[in-house]
Amino acid sequence: MPIGKMIQYKEMRQHPVLCSHLPETRWISKARTLRMLAAYRTVFIKPNYGSGGTGIIRAKKLGRKYEIRCGSSRRIVRSQAVRRAIRTYRRPHRRYLVQQGLRLAKYKGSIFDARVYMQKPESEWIISGITGRVAAPSKVVTNYRKGGHAAPISKVLLRVFKNDRTKMRSTLDQIIELSKIIADTMGKNHSVRELGIDLAIEKSGQIWIIEANPHPGHMLFTQLPNHKMIRNILKNKRLIKKH
Ligand SMILES: Nc1ncnc2c1ncn2[C@@H]1O[C@H](COP(=O)(O)OP(=O)(O)O)[C@@H](O)[C@H]1O
Ligand SMILES: [Mg+2]
Repeated sequence: MPIGKMIQYKEMRQHPVLCSHLPETRWISKARTLRMLAAYRTVFIKPNYGSGGTGIIRAKKLGRKYEIRCGSSRRIVRSQAVRRAIRTYRRPHRRYLVQQGLRLAKYKGSIFDARVYMQKPESEWIISGITGRVAAPSKVVTNYRKGGHAAPISKVLLRVFKNDRTKMRSTLDQIIELSKIIADTMGKNHSVRELGIDLAIEKSGQIWIIEANPHPGHMLFTQLPNHKMIRNILKNKRLIKKH
């Protein structure tokens, strides 16, 4: 039972803490896309029921022209042709949303985000793993299925914050805090026992919520040098299966 990205957004928007961490998200229309491009310069266009980074389109304002990217394909067009260019990348019969583009911080030259693996083996949500997820070179999505790889989150954050341990710790604490609220919020409306939360981190340390996946993959965590998290995830998966 997938949970659409828009319904998640609307549910999280109701929460007084989460609302300030959500990028503006709307159902797609030509007028909204152009307005949001003017306001944010970059927007992400995605299928409401997408996963694995598939079909994600990035539109970016470049002076008077616009760059439209999807996977390894790219077009540069004038404003009149933005809609047509986006359409060439859209799959039929799917609802799309348009979202404020976020400036993900970089690790060793590639963008990354944070993936938090949450599980509810008993009555409480627990964080079984947190990792940095670094995009493949020059990709605009960090997904494992699009070549993204795991890197220890503390290592990634320390590099972003130039070895400022206090800032690393407080960002990590915020990631944990937000993830717990997200899981509680989603858990109220949906019967889920696992969630893979995607959080964007900007260079400044500002954290944004991208989405929460009810069926997260765990392979990413096998790439970490320390196997504690993956062992935890697999142990809790067995407990959840028993329910
Ligand atoms: N608004 C955004 N700004 C910047 N990058 C984004 C944005 N939305 C998505 N991304 C990038 O694309 C990836 C996939 O987007 P996501 O919404 O998680 O879709 P999927 O369900 O395909 O994983 C994210 O992990 C992130 O790297
Ligand atoms: Mg995702």
